[in-house]
Amino acid sequence: MQLSINGTTHDIDVEPETPLLWVIREELGMTGTKYGCGLAQCGACTVLVDGEAVRSCVTPVDSMAGADIVTIEAAAADPVGSKVIDAWIAHQVPQCGYCQSGQVMAAVALLKANPSPSEEDILGSMANLCRCATYNGIVAAVQQAAKA
Ligand code: FES
Ligand code: FES
Repeated sequence: MQLSINGTTHDIDVEPETPLLWVIREELGMTGTKYGCGLAQCGACTVLVDGEAVRSCVTPVDSMAGADIVTIEAAAADPVGSKVIDAWIAHQVPQCGYCQSGQVMAAVALLKANPSPSEEDILGSMANLCRCATYNGIVAAVQQAAKA
C-alpha cells in the first residue's frame, strides 16, 4: 500500500493490521515518534492524521490509505507546529523528553482545532501522560503558542 507521511508517499509492504507506529519507526526509520504503552493510554506515539491527534500504536496501517500523516519530524515545517516548538523551548518543557514528541503533536492538534484554548481546554484535551510531570510547562507553552 501507499502511505503519505510528511508530504512524501511511501510504498510499504507489511501486514494490513501492522500498527502505524511500527511502520513509521521500523519500516521508515523515523524514530521521533515513541513507543510507550502500546495500549492507546500514554500518547507517546501521537501523530497527526488529517490534522487530528491519533495514537499510532493502535492504528492499523491499512486504515491509513489516503490519509495525510504528519510526524514530529515535520512538525517544525507546520506554522502551528513551529510556534509550539518555539514555546516548548522557551518554557524548557522537556525533562527526560520521552513523551515530548507526542505532547507536541497533541498540542498542534489542539491548537488547530481551538486556537485560543483555556487552561481547562488544554488539560481536558491533552490526555498524554508524562512520567516527569511536565504538565505545568505544557500548559504554559501551549498558551504562549496560542498567542504567538
Ligand atoms: S504508545 Fe501509543 S498510546 Fe502509549
Ligand atoms: S518529559 Fe519525561 S516522560 Fe515526559
